[in-house]
Amino acid sequence: MTPTGTEALRDLVASNLATARERTELLTGCVDDGDLVRQHSPLMSPLVWDLAHVANQEELWLLREVGGREPMRPEIDPLYDAFEHPRAERPTLPLLPPGEARAYAHEVRGRVLDLVEAATFTGARLLSGAFAFGMIAQHEQQHDETMLITHQLRKGAPALTAPPPAAPPADVPSLPREVLIPGGPFTMGTSAEPWALDNERPAHAVTVPAFYLDTTPVTNVAFAEFLADGGYDDPRWWSPAGWAHRQRTGQTAPLYWRREGSGWVRTRFGVREPVPPAEPVMHVSWYEADAYAAWAGRRLPTEAEWEKAARHDPVTGRSTPTRRRSSAARRPGWRRGGSCPRASAGGGIAPGWPGRAWGPRHPRGTGATAR
Ligand SMILES: [Fe+2]
Repeated sequence: MTPTGTEALRDLVASNLATARERTELLTGCVDDGDLVRQHSPLMSPLVWDLAHVANQEELWLLREVGGREPMRPEIDPLYDAFEHPRAERPTLPLLPPGEARAYAHEVRGRVLDLVEAATFTGARLLSGAFAFGMIAQHEQQHDETMLITHQLRKGAPALTAPPPAAPPADVPSLPREVLIPGGPFTMGTSAEPWALDNERPAHAVTVPAFYLDTTPVTNVAFAEFLADGGYDDPRWWSPAGWAHRQRTGQTAPLYWRREGSGWVRTRFGVREPVPPAEPVMHVSWYEADAYAAWAGRRLPTEAEWEKAARHDPVTGRSTPTRRRSSAARRPGWRRGGSCPRASAGGGIAPGWPGRAWGPRHPRGTGATAR
């Protein structure tokens, strides 16, 4: 829900910044300093780089650009410029050690909160609608996702844990397998949401013919049927580019899945466990998802179809306006499970599995607990 009024905006900014920081602290506080400075994959930065980069961008955009303050540590700016240093070379840079990175991030955040306290969120483009504040909160969340990937690639004893996912809503068994999304125009993107990314702008009309969409994501057990049927060895189900990719990579199952006896096990955040049958399938590429859908006699939705379905209000038959993604918006008539759209593609693949919040296996420092 787009907030109205300066105070509501101030609260929204503060809570979004706090949520992002809580995740950052969990992801950087659950491993020791050696793990923070180590590069776990050439694809990723050392975690300590992400931590100081988040703070450096926050200082650059909020304290300097919005607040007009002098740089706190101008000598470190080039180290944390993502355009200047590819990830593979970041471990060779004279990065701030973990203690200094934490202190810097803490100091920046304190000054930013002072700025938030006094801001009117009007006037300059960066301030209007708290645009720059929203951008920085989202930037930190994006790095939290990046750090989560680093944790998945990390070797060694597990550092993250999470409670079991919540049970699905009791009415799931009675849901229809699919729903009909009526054809016609809808408004795609937004011109009004102040924190929208540039590739979500502007709002524009798109006409989409009627289509059916699954009401739930494709599960691991459904995907395992594709495997059992030889799906990875049958070029009939793959696009030419997908099959070439499959041949080149030698993939025979979703990433992190391994055969064990007659079943499948997976490794997630260092924990090896049987593949949970009811969870949405994860770590499949578009090519794999596309092949699965073809095998299932369905197809993946287009981006426009996905957005139309997500905004479709089956009660009124109309497209709902955009909502701020951080809100707990719930559209009338739709049920919600987890924090991603329940409806998945015809033969759709879940974009992720948000049913569990991962936290430190051994809470340290802040005493934070998994949630
Ligand atoms: Fe970044």
